[in-house]
Amino acid sequence: MTQGLKRIPSGIIGLDEMIEGGFPFPSVALVAGSAGTGKTTFGLKFLMEGASRGESGLYFTTLSEPTQWMLRYASQFEFIKKDYFDREVKYEDMGLLLQQKDYEQLLDFIDDKIAEFMPQRIVIDPITVVGAFFQDGYRPFLFELTNLLKNWQAVTVLTGEVKPGEPYPEQISYAVDSVILLSMMEDEGTRRKYLEVLKMRGTNHTPGRQPLTITKKDGVVVLKSRF
Ligand SMILES: Nc1ncnc2c1ncn2[C@@H]1O[C@H](COP(=O)(O)OP(=O)(O)O)[C@@H](O)[C@H]1O
Ligand SMILES: [Mg+2]
Repeated sequence: MTQGLKRIPSGIIGLDEMIEGGFPFPSVALVAGSAGTGKTTFGLKFLMEGASRGESGLYFTTLSEPTQWMLRYASQFEFIKKDYFDREVKYEDMGLLLQQKDYEQLLDFIDDKIAEFMPQRIVIDPITVVGAFFQDGYRPFLFELTNLLKNWQAVTVLTGEVKPGEPYPEQISYAVDSVILLSMMEDEGTRRKYLEVLKMRGTNHTPGRQPLTITKKDGVVVLKSRF
């Protein structure tokens, strides 16, 4: 007899029905795409969904952006509930710490914050910035980070920024349980966005690129493809 994996809904409209109801809990996912494909919006909606269910969330940014700065943009979306910040959802800026280029210190910081807050949902956005700071240390950092995350009862979304045309950051895809690609394509003069679940352990997921839209109300929305 097979026992179903415990799952939590991603909160991304249209995605959960593609992945048997949600992300395996616990697990580590990579959401990869070029600039403007919706990675940050995906991460924020994932945390807001959790908060609305009484789950706590931890959002690490690598960009040296204070909370107010991020909220100034994010609050344009109707799904962002500002009241959740500093309550259900904690925002941590790792930008300054990154500049010290000490990856053990960075891992300790992440681990300490998780231990302190005990979130069910974690976002690190974008994880690829760490690669720019660490170079040779990046691979061991990723290995240790994903091991660390697997010790916690949480689903983690790592976002990966790629150059346009590059499918996904290869080093990260080995280490994670799931890979979701966000992409943009020029089609008859219009830029169309897509989402593809490339892999998800233990999950019979819908294959192939699915059209996506970003709305003010719900953020990233996966549209039903027409057959
Ligand atoms: N209020 C909004 N309504 C609809 N779409 C929006 C809104 N704000 C941003 N977007 C879309 O979302 C995109 C930004 O997504 P974002 O999550 O920041 O991408 P990434 O993190 O991958 O760079 C913008 O380029 C724009 O197309
Ligand atoms: Mg972003």
